[in-house]
Amino acid sequence: MKRLTQEQKARVKEILSQMTLEEKIGQMNQESVSIVGGFDVPFEELIEMMTDGRISNEEFEKILSNAERDFHEEDIRTGRVGSLMVSDPRKCNELQKIAMEESRLGIPLMFGLDVIHGFRTVYPIAIAEAGAFDTDLFERTASMAAKESRTQGVNWHFAPMLDIARDARWGRVSEGPGEDPYLVSAFAGAKIKGLQGDRSSTENYVAACLKHYVAYGACEAGRDYNTTMMPDSMLRNNYLKPFKTAVEAGAATVMASFNDLNGVPCTVNKYTLRDILKGEWEFPGLVVSDANAIRECVAHGIAADEMDAAVQSAEAGLDIDMGTTIYKNKLEEAVANGTLDEAVIDDAVERILSVKMWLGLFDHPYVPEEAMDRYDVLPKEHLDLAREAGARSIVLLKNEGDVLPLKKSQKISLVGALADIREEVVGAWALSWRPEDCVSIRQGFENAGADFEYYPCCGPEGPINEEEVEKAAAYGDVIVAVLGETTSMSGEASSKADITLPGEQTELIKKLVATGKPVVVLLMNGRPLALQKEVEMVPAMVECWHLGIQMGNAVADVVFGDKNPEGRLASTFPQVTGQCPIYYNHMSTGRPGGRSKFTSRYLDVTHEPQFPFGYGLSYTTYAYDNLKVEEAADKLIVSVDVTNSGAVDGTETVQLYMQDVAASLVRPVRELKGFAKAELKAGETKTVTMELAKADMGFYDNDKNYKTEDGLFRIFAGHSSKENLCSEVTVQF
Ligand code: GLC
Repeated sequence: MKRLTQEQKARVKEILSQMTLEEKIGQMNQESVSIVGGFDVPFEELIEMMTDGRISNEEFEKILSNAERDFHEEDIRTGRVGSLMVSDPRKCNELQKIAMEESRLGIPLMFGLDVIHGFRTVYPIAIAEAGAFDTDLFERTASMAAKESRTQGVNWHFAPMLDIARDARWGRVSEGPGEDPYLVSAFAGAKIKGLQGDRSSTENYVAACLKHYVAYGACEAGRDYNTTMMPDSMLRNNYLKPFKTAVEAGAATVMASFNDLNGVPCTVNKYTLRDILKGEWEFPGLVVSDANAIRECVAHGIAADEMDAAVQSAEAGLDIDMGTTIYKNKLEEAVANGTLDEAVIDDAVERILSVKMWLGLFDHPYVPEEAMDRYDVLPKEHLDLAREAGARSIVLLKNEGDVLPLKKSQKISLVGALADIREEVVGAWALSWRPEDCVSIRQGFENAGADFEYYPCCGPEGPINEEEVEKAAAYGDVIVAVLGETTSMSGEASSKADITLPGEQTELIKKLVATGKPVVVLLMNGRPLALQKEVEMVPAMVECWHLGIQMGNAVADVVFGDKNPEGRLASTFPQVTGQCPIYYNHMSTGRPGGRSKFTSRYLDVTHEPQFPFGYGLSYTTYAYDNLKVEEAADKLIVSVDVTNSGAVDGTETVQLYMQDVAASLVRPVRELKGFAKAELKAGETKTVTMELAKADMGFYDNDKNYKTEDGLFRIFAGHSSKENLCSEVTVQF
């Protein structure tokens, strides 16, 4: 959020000076639409009943659809709520009108929503999209989401999610851009530009929200909401990096995370919120809690009661309470009895008003009537962008004997329940999509004019249909099996202690392979899976993730060779679950894992990953040669020759890594420091040049000092974190 103009600042201060304490606290209160009445049991019990299966999802939705909803009109009228979670243009305008015309000061509302990977045009989940290694793409998809959601009243996205995740047992690894600080930071900067950058009209941008601040992805044992513990150097060299990049790019808001970090829940963590975010980084925007997180401070054991939680949160720099009404109910008393200084509230409210001013809401609070149905029929350029993003996020994991690409004339048996469930393509955290917009893989094959028959056989849950397996074996010359996870198996509150292929899908692969026909596995999943057994069983495997509403077409584009796969892995794939957490930028240790017993390894499995960070095959091959590293005053200039040594045009993702060989703290064996795309025709060679600023070659020590230390560095350029050329250079800073 670029700083406000002097005139805007003056307006904010003027409004603040007129506000009563109750009105100030109202701005710090965010409500979701409450469900009131309409059923025999309390709403919480209803949720439980749906969760434990006493009622089905459909019954739950049906009951809900008949329930009354409270949009908190009276609180809006009396200035006791400042933002809501609503995404309906007419309802938003109706509520906004109350705020603008019936409340005493006419302060506009913000309407927030989780728009993580698309609004109506859902594009790939972040772990997939990050694998495209293309900041221009990251920006374009975000900009599309901002435009679509603003027409529906949403002016605040609870996105991008920037949690570095190294443990695939954690369900929310699906929601973030992977394990590497450099790639997640590049993703962060691009998403902020996409969401906030097009200020040609207030209909084109929204306030972004960096989440979850901070280190939520480091939850112990990969268990969601679990405790996190790490030295300051690890926090700053990894987890804070993307947030710092995004704040420097002008992010308007930040969401504090559920986890406790080194013993202090991030909701009440003065060190991360006030010292680092608002202090060191001079962040001018607002911080919102995660849902219910203030109340959870009591369960954390950091607050004696809700009053204590309210005071600690406000004093730590948490500006908006999402969904508990504890601020609304407790802060006035805290100020009155002297436990909370009103200056703390003034600072929070000034930040909130500043974001609303920056959003243009004081002058343009409403959704224009003519904008509301602008995206009722999704524009071709939106569908094309979703399809492009999908195809470029696909990662070819294995292709022995060049089984892929298939010919459309080949007789194909398409199997797997996931291939035909169009709702499964959108992945976790897609909220505003329409089933009729979704293209399943089966539909994608139809649209491509492929010659295939479809046999479900089995899904991530449930038994194998033997009869369908026999039919599949009889029909096709090749079998394409769509396997993986349902959307509900990843995302929030979806950690798993076993991340092998769920259900009887591995058994299905065995049966399909036993038919003697070549089997191609297409994976639909939200996290890296442990595929040690399955990879060996089949000649070809493709990681297709959850690619959004154009998934079927994107997969068909790659499977039939209209697109040469260029995606890379943004997260390491383990061989077995027990290796988690596993990631490429690990420390060397004094006994790097090797063949001999007394090294950092396991007795029962290898310490090596199944597929490393940055990995991905193509329908062609690439050769690297002639790596050169030149030292300039303030940077290294790295060049390498890349040749398309195969027979098919393709786009290579050239990756630049470094290793600080000996430093005052042990450093990772590899650190990604750059990437570039090289479009290469068959046989073509290009020299790819990337620059590495010397200022980016340092690290934080445990005393918050950023250091660059003279000495030997290894510079790598290549195809992945494992396959690359290396050159050693001694650098003077
Ligand atoms: C959830 C998530 C957060 C989301 C919020 C509002 O619990 O942790 O990512 O933005 O609630 O839906």
